[in-house]
Amino acid sequence: MMKMSISLSSHICLFTLLCSSLLVIAVGTDAQFSWHGSRANALFIFGDSIFDAGTNDFINTTTDFQANFFPYGKSFLSYPTGRFSNGRLIPDFIAEFAGLPLILPYLHPEFRFNGGANFASGGGGALVETYEGLVVNLKTQMTQFKKLEKQLKREFGDEEARKIVLEAVYLISSGGNDYLFSTSANSVVFQSHSHEEYVGMVIGNVTTVVKDIHSRGGQKFGFVNMGPLGCVPHTRALAGSSGACFGELNELLKLHNRALPKALEKLADELDGFKYSIFDHFNAGMQRINNPSKFGFKEGKMACCGSGLYRGNYSCGGKRGETDYELCKDPSEYVTFDAFHPSERTHRQFAELMWSGRPPTTGPYNLRALFNLHKQNYIWTFLR
Ligand SMILES: *[C@@H]1O[C@H](CO)[C@@H](O)[C@H](O)[C@H]1NC(C)=O
Ligand SMILES: *[C@@H]1O[C@H](CO)[C@@H](O)[C@H](O)[C@H]1NC(C)=O
Ligand SMILES: *[C@@H]1O[C@H](CO)[C@@H](O)[C@H](O)[C@H]1NC(C)=O
Repeated sequence: MMKMSISLSSHICLFTLLCSSLLVIAVGTDAQFSWHGSRANALFIFGDSIFDAGTNDFINTTTDFQANFFPYGKSFLSYPTGRFSNGRLIPDFIAEFAGLPLILPYLHPEFRFNGGANFASGGGGALVETYEGLVVNLKTQMTQFKKLEKQLKREFGDEEARKIVLEAVYLISSGGNDYLFSTSANSVVFQSHSHEEYVGMVIGNVTTVVKDIHSRGGQKFGFVNMGPLGCVPHTRALAGSSGACFGELNELLKLHNRALPKALEKLADELDGFKYSIFDHFNAGMQRINNPSKFGFKEGKMACCGSGLYRGNYSCGGKRGETDYELCKDPSEYVTFDAFHPSERTHRQFAELMWSGRPPTTGPYNLRALFNLHKQNYIWTFLR
């Protein structure tokens, strides 16, 4: 028999298109392939626009749910990738801190498993009704994960695929769009339930996905609670010119943020080996909005890109109906890039807090600790 060992060492790999990899093939005596990839555990990413690295570039949707045009991405590779910011997002920094290459969207035509997959979709919620037909909801993201798991088994064999799933970290940001959508007249589900019930359904659907991943072997989960969506430029403008936040929305987010840790504590009791991290996105966001200079920003309330009051109209890029918009000179001076989404600098600060923060900001585990559990001390070797 021939032994073939293929070692592939990937460099800092931005997009697959720009990726340079080295492929060495040695021929030996029995049929055996080994792929020398990343030393880190894999990273799987689920959720919404806070994590979406371009998923929505590859679905049938509208520009309301896309960010693949100027000035999105203007500070990163200087071209728009579909990320809802001027540059990189939380998962991009987490991948970097973990020693992984940049993780591509699962739907990207060039997607090939290289240490992870990003399923997150801007506008996507935990409820299928949220912006239905325009986004990839959490349930569908889970279906895609199962498809990828099958692909991993075919590519690397059952045993290696099992290890990848077991040792991976799963990042989830889901619910924000369900609460934003609840403020629209279209939300039948919201109107026919109490606030507590609605929050219970959002968290119930997140929990369902967590249990499903866990039943396949996954154990390590990173969550962000609801950020201060009632105080971003868009909702602040909706609340009027007094400068107040959209109080009703914030109340709903606070209900969620009280329920989430309880739900996760319960899961930790029920599920074997379940370990998790929650990042207090709400307070980290509020602190920066209210005291921007303390964190190196000049502006906390107004967006860098948009129009109208606080630049709160979602017109950044001029492709969402309104063609005129303003763009600040230096997005790194702004906490918020467009009417809803943090700037790259804010994403980096959040990622740093998620990676190495402590309670009450990040806990009970931080992401560094989760990555270090089952740490791969050797280079991955996939045999088949
Ligand atoms: C995309 O959506 C539009 C509008 O809903 C629809 O007319 C069109 O057929 C869809 N295209 C595909 C390929 O699904
Ligand atoms: C998930 O959401 C749906 C609505 O999309 C709801 O009917 C269902 O009860 C939720 N599941 C759980 C477990 O809460
Ligand atoms: C912002 O949006 C509001 C409501 O949609 C609209 O009335 C207003 O004209 C917009 N502002 C600008 C500057 O276009």
